[in-house]
Amino acid sequence: MNVPILNLKAQYEGLKPEIDAKVLEVIASQYFVLGPEVEALEKEVGALSGAAHAVGVSSGTDAILVALMALRLGPGDAVLTTPFTFFATAGTIARVGARPVFADIDPVTFNLDPVRAEEALASFRKKQPGIRVKAIVPVHLYGQCADMDKLMALAGREGLAVVEDAAQAVGADYPSASGFRKAGGYGHVGALSFYPTKNLGGFGDGGMVMTNDADLGLRLRKLRVHGERDRYYYDEIGGNFRLDALQAAVLRVKLRHLPEWQKNRRALASAYGRKFAETGLVDRGFVVPPAAVYQSSGAAEYHTFHQYVIRAKDRDKLLVFLREKSVGTAIFYPLPLHLQKCFASLGYREGDFPAAEKAAGEVLALPIYAELKPDEQDYVVARIAEFYSG
Ligand SMILES: Cc1ncc(COP(=O)(O)O)c(C=O)c1O
Repeated sequence: MNVPILNLKAQYEGLKPEIDAKVLEVIASQYFVLGPEVEALEKEVGALSGAAHAVGVSSGTDAILVALMALRLGPGDAVLTTPFTFFATAGTIARVGARPVFADIDPVTFNLDPVRAEEALASFRKKQPGIRVKAIVPVHLYGQCADMDKLMALAGREGLAVVEDAAQAVGADYPSASGFRKAGGYGHVGALSFYPTKNLGGFGDGGMVMTNDADLGLRLRKLRVHGERDRYYYDEIGGNFRLDALQAAVLRVKLRHLPEWQKNRRALASAYGRKFAETGLVDRGFVVPPAAVYQSSGAAEYHTFHQYVIRAKDRDKLLVFLREKSVGTAIFYPLPLHLQKCFASLGYREGDFPAAEKAAGEVLALPIYAELKPDEQDYVVARIAEFYSG
């Protein structure tokens, strides 16, 4: 048996008539950049995410970038974030000329730990009084929200803007004390990615930047088209961050199926948890399944399982074994950002963020997607059990 980590062909097969018809419609219209499909997607994704203003952009990376630009972050500013995330989270901070300040993660959720964030903020201010920390970028890693109430409270106390990197968590619920909030719709700005492998993925790059602040919404729209106020009149310097109509059309078809896909992913995640427990791998300490910390909160989308990530003993050997058995896996992420060469000038060292470094050595993402069949899932678990029995 061959079980890939993701099977987009299986998803497309189920949607082919719907998607092909929409794509042909866009081609017939010859309206390729922004336009009615993008506007409709913005309304739909904004409604799903609890954001009054949603702006379709060229990628998740550009969604974060344009958010930081709209908040006027630049040289002399710093932004707090997690070192255990995809590169774009911190890469965008550096690209606007600001300085990423990292804080360690919660080892249970892999998300930015609010207590560590507060400590990192205090210690950075002491060391670098000339650089102002102005924002915080929490990431909802693997499809589960960071502890937003605590991070929002910290931001409120310290006067920081909050940019949610919700690239991996479209539709995820966060059980706030003030009611359920959606990923990307709680902070001052939220960013989504529609990269093809995401739970809501296009046929190429795409993203959405969202806010409930009307002024910020307008700035995001302007910056998406070079900072243009009126045709060929520019108030400030933006970029070309536009979303294509073809992407929006594909995404709108997929969006209708998203709730059912998310449900399937959660069911598969629960089944993995059960199967790992039954094989004794959890009790014997070989496998730690992911914790869905909001499961008992009453939230429907308590975790969207963009990735199903276990901690595994002898992870690197297990990965090779699974490759030989044709089971697709991936490591998100093998080297935390504070140890990346491109950030060497920030002065971080190994040992600075033990929880992130430990996670990088242990995590392994297993196949999960709505079309994954029970016998394929059984095969994955059986091969993992086989590895530890050897
Ligand atoms: C956490 C995180 N942030 C940002 C991004 C960037 O999104 P994109 O690849 O659409 O630019 C991604 C996805 O790749 C991501 O997983």
